[in-house]
Amino acid sequence: MFRKLTLSALTALGLSTGGAYAAGAEGHIEDFAFSFEGPFGTYDQMQLQRGLKIYTEVCSACHGLKYVPLRDLEALGYNEEQVIAYASQFEVFDDELDDFRTAVPTDHFPENNGVGAPDLSMMAKARAGFHGPYGTGLSQLFNGMGGAEYIASLLTGYTGETKTEAGATLYENTAFPGGWLSMAPPLAGEDVDFDDGHSNDLHHEAQDLAAFLMWTAEPKMMERKQAGFVGVFFLVVLSVLLYLVNKRIWYPIKHRDH
Ligand code: HEC
Repeated sequence: MFRKLTLSALTALGLSTGGAYAAGAEGHIEDFAFSFEGPFGTYDQMQLQRGLKIYTEVCSACHGLKYVPLRDLEALGYNEEQVIAYASQFEVFDDELDDFRTAVPTDHFPENNGVGAPDLSMMAKARAGFHGPYGTGLSQLFNGMGGAEYIASLLTGYTGETKTEAGATLYENTAFPGGWLSMAPPLAGEDVDFDDGHSNDLHHEAQDLAAFLMWTAEPKMMERKQAGFVGVFFLVVLSVLLYLVNKRIWYPIKHRDH
């Protein structure tokens, strides 16, 4: 009985892991496990590198990342030469030259408006997989807003059904709000090969890509968590001090001989 109560209390608090988050009419979001979740979570550099590779080889054909400076890629573990080499595959328009030139690390990833695909820089923060508040809302505190889960669920959520509406083909997707979107399934699994032989099935690719987009949307997540800890630490120290000072100040009054 007690165990049951504790379990349901934990579930209510959103501390239980695993399982799927049903988001009602909003679409079905699977709860992927990401390394950056939770108060101690950090990005996995190798995963971000794999995500970058998938973005570059597949998604960049239609989507841009216009808010992300190319030199930020050093945070993924690349050295300066590697970033210069990566940047050099893009052409950017230079206002001063009034012409296109090869991109350098201080430029941003190019934007891409060709087919009306939204920019992906902030997508992981613009979409929420976990809609709240569930109970106490603590689920979001521990698992994040679920932007990365939304993207991974979107990429794995195609049913294979299509329909034509006003001349445009729409694809059925269980994660997309409304169920139909105009993006054809961009990943099928085995879309890219990784040098280290890491799995490239659809599920892994979707998760790596979603982790990468979480990083583009919030590159300083780890620093933010750290700053939070420092803040909490100081608050704890301050509370202890206040408690002790309070005891000391009132000591003579509480222990007065009557
Ligand atoms: C052939 C072009 C094309 C490719 C390649 C492509 N997309 Fe898209 N994407 C689109 C279009 C068009 C939309 C807008 C769909 C809509 O709103 O109906 C879109 C929308 C999206 C959205 C937004 C969904 C929402 O909630 O509004 C995400 C996220 C996304 N794409 C991710 C990706 C990822 C990740 C890749 C690479 C694995 C990718 N796309 C590859 C064309 C593309």
